[in-house]
Amino acid sequence: MNALGGRFGRGEQERWLLKPAVFLLASTPATLLIRDALEGRLGANPIEALTFATGDWALRLLLITLALSPLREVSGWSFPPRARRMLGLFALFYALVHFLVYLVLDQFFALDDIVEDILKRPYITVGFTAFVLLIPLGLTSTRRMVRRLGGKRWKRLHRLVYVSAGAAVLHYLWLVKLDWREPLVYGAVWALLMAVRLRRVPGFFSARRAKRGRTGTVPARARRPRPLRPRSAGATARSGPALHRPVLGESE
Ligand code: HEM
Repeated sequence: MNALGGRFGRGEQERWLLKPAVFLLASTPATLLIRDALEGRLGANPIEALTFATGDWALRLLLITLALSPLREVSGWSFPPRARRMLGLFALFYALVHFLVYLVLDQFFALDDIVEDILKRPYITVGFTAFVLLIPLGLTSTRRMVRRLGGKRWKRLHRLVYVSAGAAVLHYLWLVKLDWREPLVYGAVWALLMAVRLRRVPGFFSARRAKRGRTGTVPARARRPRPLRPRSAGATARSGPALHRPVLGESE
């Protein structure tokens, strides 16, 4: 008998327990922000505090969502697609609030100034790009949209999430003036996740290795041909599509 009295299998438990848990965890920063705002505890510059907190959470959730597939590779434990989609949508939610704080509270809808900011201040340009890229992913995150677009096209579209996360990291790096540590940590995480993903793109790293060999950086005789080992059933099941799974919607 399982923890839920034997009524649900493991998959069902994950679905029924994990989704509410993800919802609770991902909505907690927003709840705390609302509480602090209502109690006047956002500090001397509440607009800045809201901008920073929502920007930070948008970026963290984006990176956490991107990390789920590699986590599956390493641990063999697969995050249920619905909970995964919820995390991605929360990232979009925090990015939207972040943008709205800027639009409404910071700029008071001064559209001319906003357009000028987007065109002339590079960190705003990349931040805006990161946000805009997330919108179609959020809009196409339903099962119905997966069916309408067709799996292949939908997956290709949802790879934009990597570009969006990269632009968000750049946005943060660009706006920081003194302490680079935090954006650099986010940047390192993003680069690692990209490298893991590109490892799965046929020929990406091997083409680079071959090029190095041709230019003499790595002597040709030092490169031994790899023995062709048959993959185990488990390895096959965990490879390939896992890392191509998009994050802001259903993937299966
Ligand atoms: C996916 C979209 C975005 C993400 C993930 C993101 C993330 C961030 C992060 C992490 C910070 C720094 C927070 C800190 O210092 O603790 C930040 C700051 C900021 N972001 Fe964004 N951002 C996004 C989009 C935008 C957009 C669309 C705008 C406006 C058009 C914007 C405007 C700003 C501003 C004004 C700041 C504060 C800069 C300062 O006062 O130094 N961001 N953002």
